[in-house]
Amino acid sequence: MRRGPSLFFTFLALAVLPAPPALSTPSPSPTPDRAIEAEIEAKVAALLVQMTLREKIGQLNFPSLAFPYEAQIEGVREGRIGNMLNVVDPRHLAEFKAAGRASRLKIPLILALDAIHSFHIAFPTPIAWAATWRPALAEQAAEMVALETAQGGVNLTFAPMIDISRDPRWGRVIEGAGEDALLGAAFAGARVKGYRKGGLATAAKHFVGYGAPEGGRDYNGAQISLSELFDRYIPPFEAAIAAGTDTIMASFNTVNGVPVTANRRLITDVLRDRLGFRGLVMSDFVAIPELINHGVAADLEDAARKALNAGIDLDMAGRAYDRYLETAVEAGLVPISEIDTAVRRVLAVKYRMGLFDDSPGGARRVPPPAGEAAVRRVAREMARESFVLLKNSGATLPITAQSGTVALIGAAALATNDHSWYGPAGLEKAATETLRDALAARLGKGQTLLFAEAFADPCGLSFKDKEGAIATARAADLVVLVVAEDCTVSGEGVSRADLGFSGVQSEMIAALAEAGTPVVLVIETGRPLALADANERSAAILIAWHPGTEGRTALAEVLTGAIAPSGKLPMTFPRSVGQVPISYSDLPTSRPSTGDRYTTGYVDEKPTPLYPFGHGLSYTSFVYSKLAFSAPTLKRDGKIDIRVDVTNTGARAGQEVVQLYTRQLVASRSRPMRELKGFQKIALKPGQTRTVRFTLKASDLAYHDDDGRPVIEPGKFRVFAGGSSAADLEGEFAVAGD
Ligand code: BGC
Repeated sequence: MRRGPSLFFTFLALAVLPAPPALSTPSPSPTPDRAIEAEIEAKVAALLVQMTLREKIGQLNFPSLAFPYEAQIEGVREGRIGNMLNVVDPRHLAEFKAAGRASRLKIPLILALDAIHSFHIAFPTPIAWAATWRPALAEQAAEMVALETAQGGVNLTFAPMIDISRDPRWGRVIEGAGEDALLGAAFAGARVKGYRKGGLATAAKHFVGYGAPEGGRDYNGAQISLSELFDRYIPPFEAAIAAGTDTIMASFNTVNGVPVTANRRLITDVLRDRLGFRGLVMSDFVAIPELINHGVAADLEDAARKALNAGIDLDMAGRAYDRYLETAVEAGLVPISEIDTAVRRVLAVKYRMGLFDDSPGGARRVPPPAGEAAVRRVAREMARESFVLLKNSGATLPITAQSGTVALIGAAALATNDHSWYGPAGLEKAATETLRDALAARLGKGQTLLFAEAFADPCGLSFKDKEGAIATARAADLVVLVVAEDCTVSGEGVSRADLGFSGVQSEMIAALAEAGTPVVLVIETGRPLALADANERSAAILIAWHPGTEGRTALAEVLTGAIAPSGKLPMTFPRSVGQVPISYSDLPTSRPSTGDRYTTGYVDEKPTPLYPFGHGLSYTSFVYSKLAFSAPTLKRDGKIDIRVDVTNTGARAGQEVVQLYTRQLVASRSRPMRELKGFQKIALKPGQTRTVRFTLKASDLAYHDDDGRPVIEPGKFRVFAGGSSAADLEGEFAVAGD
């Protein structure tokens, strides 16, 4: 079976027919430069006719560096290996490059690495990038990471990860932009642009639904209707394609029972035909052999055939194509046309990347790296803007002269590394100031800073001196306790069933709360945690994510008020694990929660999150007023301007992320209680008011029906404007019928 069921055909067919009035058109794919593409096509065709079957299969082969690597170098020379991953050392990179040039047809290699948020200098982790709500800053950061990475010879990064996830149990939320399609799409596009500017091709990943594994368990299957797939999970991929990503990585998991690696409906019908993606699709690491574990392939040969047929061009580290495609073609089990199609895509991408000297768009040139000081500046800015102040009772923060003696507690305050995940990808780590040093340097003259390590390790897995920490807290007027999610539990393969602090950190929080000195909690984490108890026991909470090389310096700046916090949550913080998944954009139920037994909710937990999506405080306050529309209605092909006034009502300057949400009140299907439709981060001086404007097209209000078709239904839309998804300034407009 090559194709999916007929329902799917129906929607594809409808997508190409002239749209009936109630449908908007599917998003356009980026327009390639026709002349260059024609030249590339001709060059690819000319190369293809010279290639042996072995050489063709070599172009689809994508092994990971394995020591001793001489056999792989030989494989490149012989045309059996056309691409490599995980080659980091510039000497090794040069050897592989030279081997490609020494091969019979001199076809250059794709040399790929997970260069995500760091190479030499570590930026905060990507979930923190999203917490800045500044895609332009993410673009700059991605460019700098790419510039550092590209100097040694790497030409493609396995980034950005753009999986939407509403489940913080899934460890890979650290790598993405959180739960929202609009925010996710903005960061997906920005990151693709940035890495590309910095000289790397990108692999937007993981297409699709990898962030929705049941139970939050990594690699587990996802059940996603077509409607939800297009509404929630595909928009970041559309943005990545529009931003020019040359490659896309398929996800490991099953979607509706079929592994994506063998899913022709998703890879070929949706990604290529529907979304117009022209580049190459790679498998994830060993994902082709794993089709056997999924129970959809009998053996490696079967797996190779199914993946190729689905539309997977590159076999990452699986050796299935390398070992079996040749015999499969010779036995007539795989048509040579399928191999040729995949090879054409790989070669075309290599030409588009400028890897050949005679690439029609020009040969690839790596821009010079930004100086270390410039990279550090952007890393610092990213950290500053990513911290989210969840609570700040009685203006506990910032620390001022009036705060008195400060006790800094926690071994993480001595950490000099990024102690997070995946990085830096480069060989050398950059020097990092500790929080203890950074804070000591920034407290007012004469202000005393006490310090207690408390824990034996930065993640508080065990105590070093609990009593000493309590005594230090008692001797101070304010405690700053740094706690960290266990360093090893963020990233791939580390799903959690518990979203509390690791080790003895909760015990420390409880003991310090008992000691009576107000506690500011600084939390280093790669995911939302369930913080209900910690929330009760602390006066202020600052989410620092994993802040990177400049992160602890930035933390000290924010704690002491030199910089006001301005991050907002890109993911909901639940009260407890049992609420997960929970999102501001959940659908309404038949019985909205009233606290009454027969309404939605839990008997042992509140129905609301601890902190909603979009939440984050500053050291000043903002008031929203005068929500207004350019007209009470818009047509189905029209647009509407929306404006709202935002005033800084506090005593200091600050930044606010102005957020706009809509809710479609009546439609043919239940629509989310709120959907983010726009956001702008603005700076306001004390007393200053700014009018912030948004323009919404009717097509921005579309949703997808059961067949994945975009639909704009006439009717009323409620609008909410404010500083979080709980915004309470409301208005209403309508989309008119014909
Ligand atoms: C991950 C990918 C990553 C690849 C190569 C896989 O396990 O899922 O995201 O790019 O390894 O390191």
